[in-house]
Amino acid sequence: MERFEPKKFVSKKVQALRSYAKGRKILVAVSGGIDSLVCFEIARNASIKVQEQIIPLILDTGLLRQNEVKNTEEYFRKKYGIELQKWDVQDRFFSSLKGIISSEEKRNIFRDVFYRTMGQALRSYSAEILVQGTVLPDIIETQRGIRIHFNVLNEAGINPQNYGLTIFEPLKELTKNRVKMVAKTLSIPPKFLRLQPFPGPGFAIRITGEITHERVEKIRIATAIVESELSSPKIYQGFPVLLVDRVPGIHNDTVVTGDVIAIRIIETKDYLSARPYRIPWPKIEKITKRILNEVPGVVRVLYDVTPKPPGMIEFA
Ligand code: XMP
Repeated sequence: MERFEPKKFVSKKVQALRSYAKGRKILVAVSGGIDSLVCFEIARNASIKVQEQIIPLILDTGLLRQNEVKNTEEYFRKKYGIELQKWDVQDRFFSSLKGIISSEEKRNIFRDVFYRTMGQALRSYSAEILVQGTVLPDIIETQRGIRIHFNVLNEAGINPQNYGLTIFEPLKELTKNRVKMVAKTLSIPPKFLRLQPFPGPGFAIRITGEITHERVEKIRIATAIVESELSSPKIYQGFPVLLVDRVPGIHNDTVVTGDVIAIRIIETKDYLSARPYRIPWPKIEKITKRILNEVPGVVRVLYDVTPKPPGMIEFA
């Protein structure tokens, strides 16, 4: 197998984007994660007039992690002296997802609202190309019919032109490990390399059942707890999921009905298959205790020991 050389990869993609864009304005879809930061670096390097030609945009869907938008804005300000564009589109996402319980429908609706908004953004900035950080596992799973990832359009039979979009995806042929290698050569700070992978549709697929502001807030707090407790380099993805069930529990000596949170932590080579992480018992006890104490209304915490296959990594 050919040795992967991150520096060569970057200069190849920079060249490719430069000749594709031919001076046209580029919008980079930023999510706060490593894939989109690498995309921004590639776009930045492909351009002579970065300030005028490259627009980084984060959509605040209300489905992102605690402080993710704020931290990313600060990063752009500090590192590049660039104002990250932020669109608060929480209302349109929450109203479109209202009452939807099927995972597939959630993903389809998320995709539709996301790309309609991106089409609108492209027009409003007079940009012509959207750069986004789709990675290889997203494409493979979509092509194999395992799961249509929200950010995979062509391979899912959807023409980006339907949304008025021309899309450039520089990371399409990379595994997540290779994205990390590229990020290192681009001097993306280690704190981003250590971030837990977070799917594009965010908490929309970390909740089974209906998506409401209240339920999202619960999973947001639980996610911050789980992520702050995970440090082993063996853990490749770890997160909690808010389940649809409401079950009896005890609160102040009274029987109450509360929520169930499942914790999924996996080890994987390629995200196409995975096995449950054998988390030390004291650690899972600590996480459980914190979730029960700090997330309002949760009365039960479960640990998921399902491999992939048959279980997907995400629940929804
Ligand atoms: P699954 O659940 O398909 O997850 O076993 C495999 C990897 O892909 C991530 N994932 C997504 N990422 N959009 C994304 O950007 C999606 O729609 C999506 N669905 C799953 C998941 O977090 C895991 O890393």
